[in-house]
Order: sequence, then structure tokens, then C-alpha cells
Amino acid sequence: MTTKLGILTLDPLNRQDYFTKIGMRSKQYGTDLYLFSPLDLVPGTQMVKGFRFDTGKKQWSGCEFQIPACLYDRCFYGEDQASKDARKIVSWLKERKDITFLGYGLPNKGNLYDRLKDDPRISPYLPKTIRATDPERVLSELNRYNSVILKPINGAHGYAIYALEKTGDSILVKTTKSGKLISKTFADLGAFSKWLDIILTKQIFLIQARLDNVNNRHQPFDLRIFLQKDKNGHWREMARGIRTGAANGILTNMSAGASISAYEDWKQQTPYFNHSYLEHEIAALIAELPHVLEETFHPLFELGIDLIIASDQSIWVLDINSKPGRKLISQLYPERLDQMYEAPLAYCKYLEKHERGAGSKNPAASARQ
Ligand SMILES: Nc1ncnc2c1ncn2[C@@H]1O[C@H](COP(=O)(O)OP(=O)(O)OP(=O)(O)O)[C@@H](O)[C@H]1O
Ligand SMILES: [Mg+2]
Repeated sequence: MTTKLGILTLDPLNRQDYFTKIGMRSKQYGTDLYLFSPLDLVPGTQMVKGFRFDTGKKQWSGCEFQIPACLYDRCFYGEDQASKDARKIVSWLKERKDITFLGYGLPNKGNLYDRLKDDPRISPYLPKTIRATDPERVLSELNRYNSVILKPINGAHGYAIYALEKTGDSILVKTTKSGKLISKTFADLGAFSKWLDIILTKQIFLIQARLDNVNNRHQPFDLRIFLQKDKNGHWREMARGIRTGAANGILTNMSAGASISAYEDWKQQTPYFNHSYLEHEIAALIAELPHVLEETFHPLFELGIDLIIASDQSIWVLDINSKPGRKLISQLYPERLDQMYEAPLAYCKYLEKHERGAGSKNPAASARQ
């Protein structure tokens, strides 16, 4: 039987190279590959308008087809109306019993924290996170920590991340706009509160103490680990790399221009860290985290986990992405690209074999190693 796998994207006309690379390998997996936007479902039918990968011509061709039984969600939502509509349609698709998603995604940063903060396996690694409901809340956190990060509850690749710092009576605010670091000093609390009032109405923000993740060149850095399930449904680490941002900056996002370097090289450059301790801790955390997430939320297929290693050697889970980018692998582990392109096809086959037969919607438990 031919397997049918559909990739969901908000922009199917911009046929990303990643999707085409999966298409090139679809034939060997006996899989018909489709690409479509959730907004292109034909109302009142089981049909959708999109593209099918033509393995003969090695290109996408436009057509109308039945919603595939297995879906790979690669939608990145903004705050626009189309994104809001698409989000609703995707949640509806996720509820359907006849459709299986490779991964069901994760909630926003605030809900993720609320649900994990009492799990003893993970809570020691989570920086305390509070909702910035009003300026007073922000001020009280700032008084407690002196240096805090204000960030949107729905992450957006480093967009609208503010570093706030108390310097005597004044408050220094730093942020990054179009790749440039800008700063502003508020001489009194009144002006600062007014500014906060405006910022906090734009979207929901979270506050965290600013972790000390700055290297000896004053650049912020973190460790990105890319995990993916293999053809047997087992979690595998595919890549890890150190992301380093601009000197005196805030962000380590690659989309904000951070550079990426091999973990092994970073180890050589930082002899002052106890690397055997760090590696042991990270290995234990990485072995546990995907299972905790799947138990707490829903089945997942891939994860980009961002860890901050602070100057005092404490390790923090800063951010968890269920739709990680591919740059880390293409830049650091090009020899694993083939495996990465095949992974969605291989895992879709695994799900087809194990899940549908078993009649269970959640294969996460059986996927545990
Ligand atoms: N508590 C913190 N301490 C130090 N730096 C932080 C802190 N929170 C965020 N940052 C910096 O800001 C960057 C962006 O933060 P975060 O990953 O939480 O949001 P995002 O990247 O915009 O979200 P997403 O990855 O979901 O798009 C981080 O990579 C890190 O460099
Ligand atoms: Mg992030």
C-alpha cells in the first residue's frame, strides 16, 4: 500500500529546498508526498488544493487531492489573520482520529513552563518564568534580580526580546531591531512604567532573570541540541552546536545572525569549565526531556533544545522548539543530511506500521527506549 504523507506549510508556493529533498527520497519509501497550506482545504470536502511531488520529473506539480492520512506540520505562525485562521484549522486536523501528525507540537513558552515547573525531573533546569501582567510585576522582578529578560509568550526567533537592567535609579533597556542592538535609558520609574504599559499591550510577555551566558568576549552563547526520532521511533541526537551572538548583544538565534560552531571546538576553547560534569548532566537531561514532554503533552517527532550553560556551570533549559531549523545539521554535520531528509519518511512508515495497526493514537509510550 502506498503511504501518503503531507507537509503543512503556510507558503506552499515557496517550495523550500528541505521539502524537495524529502520528495527526492519519497519513492524509495513507497510514499506519495504532498505539500499544502491548511488554508487551502476545500470547504465541505475531504479535499485540498496543493502540490504533489512528481518523482519522475523531480518537481512539485499542482493538484487537488484527499487530505493525506499522515501530516508533517512545518507551519510558522505570525500574528496576522491568515496565521490565526491556519492555526485553528491545524488544531482541528490534530483532533481528527483518521489523521496522524508526525509531531503534535508544543504549547507556548508560558504554558510549557506552567506544566513542567513541578516535574522534579525537569524543574531544576527551568528558569523561573512569570507572566508580565503589568508594569508593577516587571518592576518587582527587576528589583529582585537587577537584570531581567522580557520576552513574548509566543517565541518569534528573537523578535521583541528586551534586556532590562537596573543601574542605580535609572533603568537601561536593550533590544535588537533589524540586527542592530539599541538601548534606551529611563531616568525615572514613571517614564519606564509608561513605556512598559505600551509594550505590554502589544502581546503577552514573560519575565525571567537574565542568565549569565556571556563568554569572555562578551558574546552571549547557548547550546542547541537537535533530536529526531529514527525509523524505530527512538529518539536520537542528530546534532549539537554552540550558537554565539554578537558582542554585548542579547540573542543567540541563528536567524538573528548568531554563528554556529562545533561543540567539540567550544570544549577546547573553554578549559575553565568542567566538561565531564557538564556532559554528564546534559546527557542525563537529554535522555529524559523528550519523554517528559511527550508524557505531559503529545507525541513529538523532532526537537531543538536550547540550553544555557551559565558561568557558574549551571545548566538551564531556555527554549524548546518542536519545529527546529536545519542549519545546525547542514553547517556542522553535512554527512547526516541524507538521514535528516529521510527521517520524516521513515518515521511516517513507523507510525503507519505501529500505530494504525494497534489502533492507538499515541505511540509515544512504545517509542521509549
Ligand atoms: N533568561 C534569559 N537569560 C539570558 N538570555 C536569554 C534569556 N531568555 C532569552 N534569552 C536570549 O534571547 C534569545 C531568544 O529567547 P527565546 O529562545 O526564549 O525566544 P525566541 O527565540 O524568540 O523563541 P523561538 O525560539 O520560540 O522563536 C535566546 O536565544 C537567548 O539568547
Ligand atoms: Mg529561541
